[in-house]
Amino acid sequence: VSAGLEGVIAAETITSEVDGEKGELIIAGFPVEKLAGLATFEEVTYLLWNDRLPNAAQLTAFQDSLARYREIPRIIYDVLKEAATQNVPPMDALRMGASMLSLDSPAEDLDPRGQAISVVARFPTIVAAYWRMMQRFDPIAPRADLSHAANYLYMLFGEEPNEDTVRGLETYLNTVVDHGINASTFAARVIIATQSDFVSAITGAIGALKGPLHGGAPGPALDMVFEIAHPANAETYLRGKLERGERLMGFGHRIYKVRDPRAEVLCEAAKKMFDKTGDRSLYELATEVEKTALRLLAEYKPGRRLSTNVEFYTALLLHGLGFPGGLFTPTFAIGRVSGWLAHCFEQQLVGRIIRPQSLYIGERNREWVLLDDR
Ligand code: ACO
Repeated sequence: VSAGLEGVIAAETITSEVDGEKGELIIAGFPVEKLAGLATFEEVTYLLWNDRLPNAAQLTAFQDSLARYREIPRIIYDVLKEAATQNVPPMDALRMGASMLSLDSPAEDLDPRGQAISVVARFPTIVAAYWRMMQRFDPIAPRADLSHAANYLYMLFGEEPNEDTVRGLETYLNTVVDHGINASTFAARVIIATQSDFVSAITGAIGALKGPLHGGAPGPALDMVFEIAHPANAETYLRGKLERGERLMGFGHRIYKVRDPRAEVLCEAAKKMFDKTGDRSLYELATEVEKTALRLLAEYKPGRRLSTNVEFYTALLLHGLGFPGGLFTPTFAIGRVSGWLAHCFEQQLVGRIIRPQSLYIGERNREWVLLDDR
């Protein structure tokens, strides 16, 4: 029994390759570091879904169709409003909102690609509307004249973002767009393989992404950096955690045994961003925390080869872009949904239900006992 399915190859894919020994990530043929900082999110989504970059006309048509479906049905706003009064965490609200994308949907009139576009288009609207409702602000309607990333920022903060902020967010979204068969992508593939629909697949995937062992780590990773507050405190703080048997969020990975290449890309983007603001203190604190964490992980967990993962610098970059911690994981979902759907398309072509086996280790030949005799 392989409880975590380590080493099991469950699909062929042309979306991405993760090389955990070399620390390389290829997204549809591009090393992540040669794609994330240059492409728009629309270009990367098109690339993943079509296995080629769009030309100018294709890109315009793709951008237009994404912009056309940004609005969400009224009833989703109503449910989000109720969720906000109950202070439901944003990932739960996204899961609820996403599951309702089958309601009053343009999807019935669309071909499968159109349905997928409408799902990607509406994730930012759900997240931004919910976030504003949590602050007791009115949601801001999406704008069709902005890019996917710029419109998300606009709906969150109520003003048109500057180019550097959009670039920073797009670099993040592109970096996390796809990553082999990670837990949420696997969940989406399992669901679509039963010939279920895209909305069901992405709803299940959101549930998988939410967990702190997958997409839920960046908030706690940043909290850790803030609690440490000064490089001089890092050793005592981190040692304390490891002594108590706690995990250091933002470190360790099932596949990467060296530094996650996405951490590299996001660390670079964060550095650029903090340089522009003229205040590098948080960046410098984070890099010092990283160094100490790696040294202590090697001491407490020798041979496990625990290194920095994507979440550590996700937290730093998104925080620098003005995102509150509660939006880190939903923003991850806004990027990853394009990857989930790319895998759904592939899985549909495979056309085979995913159904592993379990090993029964329970009792046998029990005798039925009447209720009064138990
Ligand atoms: N801090 C301390 N110890 C750790 C950490 C960590 N971050 N990660 C793994 N370990 C230890 C485990 O306790 C275990 O120790 P043991 O051999 O003494 O029992 C050993 O390293 C191996 O760990 P596993 O749990 O077997 O590794 P696995 O591949 O199952 O887990 C995971 C990978 C879940 C990412 C793990 O490293 C972890 O919990 N990291 C912290 C959470 C995190 O950052 N998650 C984001 C991952 S990136 C993403 O999903 C987008």
